[in-house]
Amino acid sequence: MKEKRTLMLPGPTPIPERARLAGATEMIGHREVECEELLKEVVDGLKYVFQTENDVLVLTCSGTGGLEGSITNTLSRGDKVLSLCTGAFGERYATIAEKYGLEVERLDVSWGEAVDPKRVEEKLESYKEGEIKAILMTHNETSTGVINHPEPIGKLARKYNCLLLIDAVSSLAGIELKTDKWGADVVVTSSQKALMTPPGLCLVSVSHRALKAYETSDLPKFYLDFKRAKDRYDAKNQTPATPAISVLYVLREVLRDIKEEGLENVFKRHEIVTKAIRLSMKAIGLELLVDDEVASKTVTAVRLPEGISYSVLRSNLKDKYNVYITGSKGQLQGKVFRIGHLGNVSRMDILSTISALEFVLLDLGFELELGAGLAAAQKVFYEEERS
Ligand SMILES: Cc1ncc(COP(=O)(O)O)c(C=O)c1O
Repeated sequence: MKEKRTLMLPGPTPIPERARLAGATEMIGHREVECEELLKEVVDGLKYVFQTENDVLVLTCSGTGGLEGSITNTLSRGDKVLSLCTGAFGERYATIAEKYGLEVERLDVSWGEAVDPKRVEEKLESYKEGEIKAILMTHNETSTGVINHPEPIGKLARKYNCLLLIDAVSSLAGIELKTDKWGADVVVTSSQKALMTPPGLCLVSVSHRALKAYETSDLPKFYLDFKRAKDRYDAKNQTPATPAISVLYVLREVLRDIKEEGLENVFKRHEIVTKAIRLSMKAIGLELLVDDEVASKTVTAVRLPEGISYSVLRSNLKDKYNVYITGSKGQLQGKVFRIGHLGNVSRMDILSTISALEFVLLDLGFELELGAGLAAAQKVFYEEERS
């Protein structure tokens, strides 16, 4: 008998049953009133999750499309931007900016560490006033499992009068992000992460400052033109081109669930799961890549033990237990494995994953006490539930 699939990736993530079935709803025309109502409910639900009064645009593309749009809609050729690079996704954001002819100043941070706002300020200080037009940051660096806190960076963006563009692809709806309060001008996320929806939608919040910057921005844009999307939505609750309607049906259900659970509870749930995973990895005798203080609440990177390769670990977990984990990229390739724990990941999914990991590691010759990791996670869940 094949085990039930346990998808422990940092996206795509498992979809709650009711929402998944909503994806099979009968098709409607994208200029019909039903679709306008669907989009409106989705946008209102997203404003709650983004914690914003700003416009939230629904684009039919993955998160990378929104990151590209965040640049093409607010900046111009030759503009200087400061890119906070804490891993592979920070690098990607910087690369997109370079491809569009921007002058990218990188603030490189060792992989596994978070950005220090003091270093950001030193960098900003070293330029003429107004020279840096935007700061690009990755809220949750998925490749390492590190959180970069946007609040102090938002303050700096105000002080030095530049935009703050945030890649929140693997954080939004899993880790707190107060878009308005923290001064984020553009926040980008994708549907297939903590929003527990199939891939296909990119959700982007855009501040008044960002919309003002749009007016002078000279980079090419059409499909991902934020103003076209805003105007069409403002006029008719529609999108300029055909949206991924089936994905919208799923997202609407998910957003209803999130509202019902309450954002605070959603974040708390992610924190508890993170604590369980981190303590269990330590109890097994594995080494975590990052310190507790900067640890992501949606993905955890664990160093591969000596003599155990990522591909062997991954294929054993998949073939024997139908449990899916992933590796990492760039300088961490072959050095860590990552467990995604965002969105619709239950305590039982976590316990099954830890059990499977213990079985596989034992089979591969790693010395551990069977059940040690499991017990550590059980203890977290047991105590949290009764506290
Ligand atoms: C932080 C971050 N940024 C960007 C992306 C790219 O998103 P997408 O695959 O939706 O284009 C990912 C995907 O894992 C991510 O984790």
